[in-house]
Amino acid sequence: MLQDSILICLRGGDIERCLAVVCFQSAVVGFPRSYEQQRSMKVSGIQNTRQYLYQELCRATDNFSPDNKIGEGGFGSVYKGVLRDGTLAAIKVLSAESKQGVREFLTEITTIAEIEHENLIKLYGCCVEGNHRILVYGYLENNSLSKTLLSGKNREVEFSWDTRRGICIGIAQGLAFLHEEVRPHIVHRDIKASNVLLDGNFKPKISDFGLAKLFPSNMTHISTRVAGTTGYLAPEYALRGQLTRKADVYSFGILILEIVSGRRNMWKEATPEEPYLLELAWELHKQGELLRLIDKSMHENFDPEEACRYLKIGLLCTQEMPKLRPSMSTVVEMLKGELDLEGKKISRPGLITAFMGHRTILKDRDKSKDSSCTKSSGSGKAENSLFSSKDAITSFATMTFNSIYDRR
Ligand SMILES: Nc1ncnc2c1ncn2[C@@H]1O[C@H](COP(=O)(O)OP(=O)(O)OP(=O)(O)O)[C@@H](O)[C@H]1O
Ligand SMILES: [Mg+2]
Repeated sequence: MLQDSILICLRGGDIERCLAVVCFQSAVVGFPRSYEQQRSMKVSGIQNTRQYLYQELCRATDNFSPDNKIGEGGFGSVYKGVLRDGTLAAIKVLSAESKQGVREFLTEITTIAEIEHENLIKLYGCCVEGNHRILVYGYLENNSLSKTLLSGKNREVEFSWDTRRGICIGIAQGLAFLHEEVRPHIVHRDIKASNVLLDGNFKPKISDFGLAKLFPSNMTHISTRVAGTTGYLAPEYALRGQLTRKADVYSFGILILEIVSGRRNMWKEATPEEPYLLELAWELHKQGELLRLIDKSMHENFDPEEACRYLKIGLLCTQEMPKLRPSMSTVVEMLKGELDLEGKKISRPGLITAFMGHRTILKDRDKSKDSSCTKSSGSGKAENSLFSSKDAITSFATMTFNSIYDRR
């Protein structure tokens, strides 16, 4: 089989492809080779991307032992491992749906590996052997924003306002880099709390950028991974597949709201008593009560004006009309206080209130008030008092979709 492939390759005159086949098939048929011999047999023509042997990653993770599993997402499982030089790594075993050819896969990986920024996760390399498609990343000590800041009652670390501000600015910088400096631009498509990892100093690093390209284009995030991601999806992307950088801006807006409020946009089916975070933020903004949304675990240790400004930036990013959402570099300026928000009108957010079953959507009530950052009376039950049943109408998913569609 191996000889046949070599002959076919040579006849075709494609020496690179030939080498790829040799390397690929030798792994499949188990050609006996020393570690160093195998290591040097990389797929030719692919530079600057380190390729790991499957055997090496098995050793690093104790044969992908469940004890070393640190998470599982739509792309596959993630294991903590120790590489041969002692470096800690997060090893992501891509699921079988990623059936790209070796060369195509490595080309994409090279593109990702070349992107370097302090707020983007570092890809160390990959492994392509047989059916295995594995990515090796730097391991980040403080896990994801989802598991730390947004873990509710299980939260082990308290996040100060300074830390939260730094996280918001860092994510915005990383996204602005992908959107505006990388050529061709990269739309992340899956900005969410579990894709923001935190290093030992709680500096944020965006993960999983570029990964969507490793999967067949007909296998969209929406159809396959709707459950975990819905709360972050811009309506125009979720409902009509319109993917632009502004879809990421929308998701980032949700993230800011989550970081400042310390709660998730969607953790379960929302109810009139416990609406989605974005709905709540919009209501509070209209009532001039945004301050009530700020995470109480910070007590009084934050600048209320700045925290409310961040929430308003979140609302600007989640506006229904994509063109009204700011670009990520503008967002960075706003977050750093270099661009004034004074007088900026915020229009209603784009809400996907449901994909399945029935849900409530809120009637758009009053026009926004000028200032939404007035001091709350401190009842402590902001959510409940805001959403009495007369404020909500019940809708089915299709109606919700139509209503979003019709408003355009
Ligand atoms: N580089 C890393 N360092 C430390 N932990 C990581 C790293 N990469 C991933 N993880 C952990 O593994 C979990 C699963 O990651 P993964 O990207 O597979 O899934 P996800 O982010 O939850 O969903 P999605 O597949 O949509 O990105 C993350 O939530 C995080 O806790
Ligand atoms: Mg992820």
